Amino acid sequence: MNFENNLEFAKKMDNEDPIAAIKNEFSIPKMANGEDEIYLCGNSLGLMPKKAAEYVQRELVQWGSLGVKGHFSGDFPWMPYHEFLSEGFADIVGAETNEVVSMNTLTANLHFMMVSFYRPTKTRFKILLEEHAFPSDHYAVESQIKFHGLDPDEAMLLIKPRKGEELIRNEDVLALIEEQGDSIALVMLPGVQYYTGQVFDMKSITEVGHNKGCMVGFDLAHAAGNIPMQLHDWNVDFACWCTYKYMNSGPGSVAGCFVHQNHHHDESLPRFAGWWGHDKMSRFKMENKFKPMKSAEAWQLSNPPVLSLAAIRGSLDTIKMAGGIKTLRQKALKLTGFMRYLLETELSSDLDILTPADMRFAGTQLSIAIKLKDGDDSERGKKIFDAIEDKGVTGDWRYPNVIRVAPVPQYNTFEDAFKFVQILKTAIQVNA
Ligand SMILES: Cc1ncc(COP(=O)(O)O)c(C=O)c1O
Repeated sequence: MNFENNLEFAKKMDNEDPIAAIKNEFSIPKMANGEDEIYLCGNSLGLMPKKAAEYVQRELVQWGSLGVKGHFSGDFPWMPYHEFLSEGFADIVGAETNEVVSMNTLTANLHFMMVSFYRPTKTRFKILLEEHAFPSDHYAVESQIKFHGLDPDEAMLLIKPRKGEELIRNEDVLALIEEQGDSIALVMLPGVQYYTGQVFDMKSITEVGHNKGCMVGFDLAHAAGNIPMQLHDWNVDFACWCTYKYMNSGPGSVAGCFVHQNHHHDESLPRFAGWWGHDKMSRFKMENKFKPMKSAEAWQLSNPPVLSLAAIRGSLDTIKMAGGIKTLRQKALKLTGFMRYLLETELSSDLDILTPADMRFAGTQLSIAIKLKDGDDSERGKKIFDAIEDKGVTGDWRYPNVIRVAPVPQYNTFEDAFKFVQILKTAIQVNA
C-alpha cells in the first residue's frame, strides 16, 4: 500500500475505514484535558467494550431479582453460560465449537493441558519451548517436569534466536524438532511472541512435530483476537489463551482453551477432573463415577464464572459486529503497516523495530527498540517512554530499551498512529 506521511492522509484512511464506527462501542480512557488517550496497550489489557459492561450489569440484575433461579431462567441461563461463548471462540481460533471452552485462567489451563498432553517416557521426555518464553510459561513447564520427577536441565529444550538476531527462525524450530524429535514429548510455543510480536508458523510446527510423534500445543495469549488461525485444520493438539488482551474481556478475565477433536474420545488421557467436565446429562445424579464429556468441556472443573463470562460475551459480540477476526485483520494490516511506515520514515536512525516487517509473521504489535549509543544515559529509553505517556500515549515499557505498542483495529485510528509517531519523535528529540 502507498502511505503518505501527513495528518490529512491519516484522516482520509479513517474516513474510508469500513469499521471505523466500532470504536464507539468502547470506553476510551481520557487525558486530564478531557481528550481521548492514544491507547496502544491492547497487547496487555484491551479496552472495555460497552457491551461487556451492559452484559455484566444484566447478570447482576438477574442475580438480584432471581437468585438461584438465574441458573435456569431467561435467554442466557447460568448453567450452560459458557456454551454461549463457544461460537465466538471457535471463530477466533479456527475451531469446531466443541473444541473450545472458557475456563480458569491462562497459566492454570497450561497446567491442565500438560497434565493430559505431557506424558513423559524414559526416552521421550523433553518439552520444547523458547529460551525467553513468558516467565509464567517457563515456570509452568519447569514445575510440570519436576512434578514427573525429572530434571528440568535435561528435559527443557530451549530454542533461541541465532547470535545477533532477535527473532527465532522457523527453519531453526523445525530443524530442532527434526533433530531431537524422538526425545520430545511436547512442543509448546507461542502463537505470537509476547516481546517481539513475532507470529510463529503454527501449521508447519504442528506438522513437523506430529511427524516426529510429539504433542504440539500453543500459548495464544498474544494471538487470540489478533490474528486469524486454523487450529482445527492445522491439527494442533491443544491451545490456551487469555481474554484480557486483544479479546477485551477485562482484567484477569476467564481464559479460553482448545482441545482438538482427535482427543475427545481418548479414554487413556490423564486429566485432573471436576464435576463440570462430567457428562452433563447425568451430572446432577451426583454419582462418583466420572464420565467425561466428548468435547473440550471435559477439561472443565467448575461451574461457569458468569460475571466474567458475561464480559467475554460482550467482547465477542463486539468482534462479531465489527465483521469478525478476518475483517479486523484486514484493518490491522493497513493500520500496523501505516504505523511502521511512519516510524521508519521519521525515526529510522533512532530506533529499530524488532517485529518482523513481513506481515505474514506479525500481528498488530510493534516492538520498538530505542537505539542507545555509547555514553547514553541508561535511563534514556525510559525517559522517552515517560515523555510519550505524559502526552497521552499509553503503551508499555520493557527494560532496557523497548516500547511495545499495539494499534488495535477495534478502537485505534490511523490518526492515533500519526499522532503517536509525532509525539515519539518530539520525545526522542527532547531526550537526545
Ligand atoms: C504469553 C503469556 N503467557 C502467560 C501469561 C500469564 O497469564 P495469566 O496471568 O492469565 O495466567 C501471559 C500474561 O500476559 C502471557 O502474555
